Amino acid sequence: MAVRVLVLASVLIFSCFAEIGHGAVSFSSLQRTLVVTASHRQGLLMSVEDKITVTWGLNQSFPAGTDTSYRTVKVQLCYAPISQVDRAWRKTEDHLSKDKTCQFKIVEKPYVNANETLEWTIERDTPTATYFVRAYALDENNHEVAYGQNTNAEKKTNLFDVQAITGRHVSLDIASICFSAFSIVSLMGFFYAEKRKGRKAEQ
Ligand SMILES: *[C@@H]1O[C@H](CO)[C@@H](O)[C@H](O)[C@H]1NC(C)=O
Ligand SMILES: *[C@@H]1O[C@H](CO)[C@@H](O)[C@H](O)[C@H]1NC(C)=O
Repeated sequence: MAVRVLVLASVLIFSCFAEIGHGAVSFSSLQRTLVVTASHRQGLLMSVEDKITVTWGLNQSFPAGTDTSYRTVKVQLCYAPISQVDRAWRKTEDHLSKDKTCQFKIVEKPYVNANETLEWTIERDTPTATYFVRAYALDENNHEVAYGQNTNAEKKTNLFDVQAITGRHVSLDIASICFSAFSIVSLMGFFYAEKRKGRKAEQ
């Protein structure tokens, strides 16, 4: 009995340390081994309407076996520095558990040693901002072990702007459609009532 309790306690303590260890994954410790590109039409991109074609794959100048611990790849849409100014809720932190740079998932799928491509339609809930694309390689414990991004280390090149189609516009559209429909129905009702009145008068 005492032995069992001791084993249980050790397992608990060990998993606590494992958690702390996870919290300590820092971006600066990751190797940039993935090559990521993002292509899209020129100019301001509209959420819901526009698409981004993302490609990712291992940079072939790293030695074979570099990716043996990679299990999953997670591709995200990330705020460029210009859209983080004065916004603590988008702040970049070196500790990845606290980092808020990349808040939008484009895709998460098993890692394969090949160039992969995905066409992604910008989702409705994407705020108006300037973005880049980053991919993380995750190991079997879902810990980040490498990354790649479509911009340089300073996050200044290949950025793109997204304009949100907000929920407010959508509900305004719905409201105006309902209002128009209501007007037409009222108008029809009015004419019908007038006609009946007219007929009654003739009789
Ligand atoms: C691949 O990695 C090498 C070495 O780190 C680097 O010099 C090169 O720019 C990388 N290639 C791409 C396309 O990112
Ligand atoms: C991925 O694409 C790059 C550049 O087009 C190429 O050099 C590399 O060999 C490709 N990698 C694989 C695994 O096909």
